[in-house]
Amino acid sequence: MAESRRVELAEALALGPGRRHACHALLYAPDPGLLFGRIPLRYAVLMQMRFDGRLGFPGGFVDAGDGSLEDGLNRELREELGEAAAAFRVGRGDHRSSRAGPRVVAHFYVRRLTLEQLEAVEAGAPRAREHGREVLGLVRVPLYTLRDGVGGLPAFLENSFIGTAREQLLEALQDLGLLASGSVPGLQSPASP
Ligand code: APR
Ligand code: MG
Repeated sequence: MAESRRVELAEALALGPGRRHACHALLYAPDPGLLFGRIPLRYAVLMQMRFDGRLGFPGGFVDAGDGSLEDGLNRELREELGEAAAAFRVGRGDHRSSRAGPRVVAHFYVRRLTLEQLEAVEAGAPRAREHGREVLGLVRVPLYTLRDGVGGLPAFLENSFIGTAREQLLEALQDLGLLASGSVPGLQSPASP
């Protein structure tokens, strides 16, 4: 979505029938664990490997039969993540940003879970309807940077991402304070017009 622009939700909803709406969600949970017994994991943040080989967030197109953006999002989450996603609901209050392109309006949500809820999603994901189809696997985002200055989040960010998922990830991590200060040397907040 190279030619997309940031829009308020109300403006996005008033755009008319020429565009399809898509909703995606960043699900995260506090994680007290340590890597190698010394590197704090801080949070478990979920992304997925998509059918097109790019990383993105779970979610997808809202259908005419969905009562609202969030109904569509929660339906997509169950299709892509499985029944453990029915244990919580992503609501209007979790909406963070919308971007309008010529054909698609992409809405982004962020939802905090308990670690138990997030682990239940991971455990059930292989039984989701779209497992092995639209979703090739869930991944956690490494929030730390290893001593070489590259391993961890900087290397993760070198992957290919769908749409604006990379920018959405960075913005959410920074807004929510999920990154330890100085954990990613030289990491700049992306400019978002
Ligand atoms: N930011 C912006 N746009 C995104 C993001 C994101 N993080 N993630 C996905 N998109 C865009 C995609 O490029 C796509 O145009 O949103 C649209 C829908 O998202 P998907 O998750 O790919 O849609 P979904 O309904 O889950 O299923 C994919 O779409 O192209 C068809 O045939 C394909 O059946 C498949 C379906
Ligand atoms: Mg999808």
